[in-house]
Amino acid sequence: MSNSKKKTIVQKTVVEKVKYDLPKDFDGANWNSHEDDFTQIFYEQNLSQFWRPEDVSLQPDLNVWHILPDNVKWAYSQNLLVLTFLDTYQGDIGMPVVSRSLDEKYHQRKAVLNFMAAMENAVHAKSYSNIFMTYMSTPEIEELFHWGEQNKNLQRIMSLIVGAYEELDRFNYLKKYDREHVTFTDEKFKDAQWKAMVASVFLETWLFYSGFYYPLYFYGQGKLMQAGEIINLILRDESIHGLYVGRLAQEVFQTFDADKQEELKGWMFNLFHNLYKEESELVETIYDPVDLAHDVKVFVRYNANKALMNLGFDAVYPYEEVNPVVLNGLNTETKTMDNFSMKGNGYQKMKSESVKDQDFFFDVERITQPGGKK
Ligand SMILES: [Fe+2]
Ligand SMILES: [Fe+2]
Repeated sequence: MSNSKKKTIVQKTVVEKVKYDLPKDFDGANWNSHEDDFTQIFYEQNLSQFWRPEDVSLQPDLNVWHILPDNVKWAYSQNLLVLTFLDTYQGDIGMPVVSRSLDEKYHQRKAVLNFMAAMENAVHAKSYSNIFMTYMSTPEIEELFHWGEQNKNLQRIMSLIVGAYEELDRFNYLKKYDREHVTFTDEKFKDAQWKAMVASVFLETWLFYSGFYYPLYFYGQGKLMQAGEIINLILRDESIHGLYVGRLAQEVFQTFDADKQEELKGWMFNLFHNLYKEESELVETIYDPVDLAHDVKVFVRYNANKALMNLGFDAVYPYEEVNPVVLNGLNTETKTMDNFSMKGNGYQKMKSESVKDQDFFFDVERITQPGGKK
């Protein structure tokens, strides 16, 4: 090899090494110091609530399910499908995109949001599928999903919510990987971040909760209790999700000046009214056949008010009395609905233990001769 060629290789190695050794601002999550005065509380609450879809057996519901009229079964299934769509995207993009938008220093906040993200699809959406798989045949499940994919109101609701997430996703990418071409200001970034958080709280505290109406309606009457048990576990999760993201949204909102805040409020109420229109039509589609649309809309408005309050705004709808049967579903002895309640005492988490070596020592005689007798 010629000397000049050797020199080129050496230089190249040196250049790569220097590039590799450039200092980077990586750091680790240090849970010894608190990032704020609420995130570690939410962390503890989230993890203490952890559960698995398979912890609740749905078989006991079948004797009730099989005698329900077809229109009731269809409304119940449609409602859970709406929840499935919302949970799927909340897990796939909603929570992750808000997590990624937070400043690099917020490792604990990101951990809490990422844990919430994992619950949405892997636990909540999976639980709805478990209900479908227990109650319905495969062709019926496919027909149900097809209905959701074709329903204009549901698709528009998804588009309104996921649209805000995708907008923040674009900003996340540009801010992190295309900084030299970035023309937007930090305020513009925070604008997209806050809007995605608003969409998230509307989904969690308003749309999810409105979807809990029908399962709670049954649960409050002592019917489909196992599905109701699952709904109670899910709504307890969504309750703290809405509170947490709402808390983060308020923090961002306070950084804007008064004019910007007014502009953002205008955007929020535009989304609010669009969502209400679509949700109302969807409620009529699902619940008119079982004569409950009026009652469900009261619950929709009740939850819309709660979502606004989680974001730091006043309620817009006047007080209306929610169906006491649904409130009963929210407030049984075993299911207290304060936002930081522990698991209900009717719920037993599946117990498991590690596999040990001795678990693999088998008594051959007992296996080959029933009863172990020679
Ligand atoms: Fe969820
Ligand atoms: Fe959630």
